[in-house]
Amino acid sequence: MAKKLIIGVLASGRGTNLQAIIDNIKSGKLPNVEIGCVISDNPDAKALERARRAGIPAYYIYPGKKRTVLDPEQEEKYIETLKKHGVELVCLAGFMRILKKKFLDAFPNRIMNIHPALLPAFPGLNAQKQALEYGVKVSGATVHFVDEGIDTGPIILQEAVKVEEDDTVETLADRILKVEHKIYSEAIRLFAEGRLKIEGRRVRILSGDEVDKT
Ligand code: GAR
Repeated sequence: MAKKLIIGVLASGRGTNLQAIIDNIKSGKLPNVEIGCVISDNPDAKALERARRAGIPAYYIYPGKKRTVLDPEQEEKYIETLKKHGVELVCLAGFMRILKKKFLDAFPNRIMNIHPALLPAFPGLNAQKQALEYGVKVSGATVHFVDEGIDTGPIILQEAVKVEEDDTVETLADRILKVEHKIYSEAIRLFAEGRLKIEGRRVRILSGDEVDKT
């Protein structure tokens, strides 16, 4: 059997995206993937509990004093821990901090993020609330590679979700979340199969035949 892709998941909160990845690995939908470790910047993150329950090494690593970034020394600890577990792809799953150049350079074109809107619309925090307040009729979810901007990296997959007349932030967020759980695993599977090729801003999804020829 082909060598499995080792991913590391960074999560700040409840970890339903992490759970979907764990479940998809267990059920055989992500046959070429294993989770090397899970790291959180929040000691009470439910994501850590979910990882431990699945037998995955799980760490809380103090992020430093700033709210939106990792302190440089702490950032080094995140990188070291991921490398120690042989992580080849870093998956941000509700990780609420911006990664700086040093982190990006440690995993070039090997960091993905899931965002609860159709980027480039509604980047940053509270994307579902932004969408509802703006009045769009369609929103959705995006998986993208991470660059130095906020939710600006090359887009891998997107799926749209209809905004219903009686939606609240919660009902819209729930509908988007179901799509997130599906497309994040799809994007990871494509990466594991070597089928994602970044060409400038565009991510080309190669067919199986094209991969064989590379
Ligand atoms: C998800 O909706 C994810 O898209 C969002 O946080 C939630 C985490 O849920 N991420 C962002 O808004 C990043 N800008 P989860 O902890 O249950 O996976």
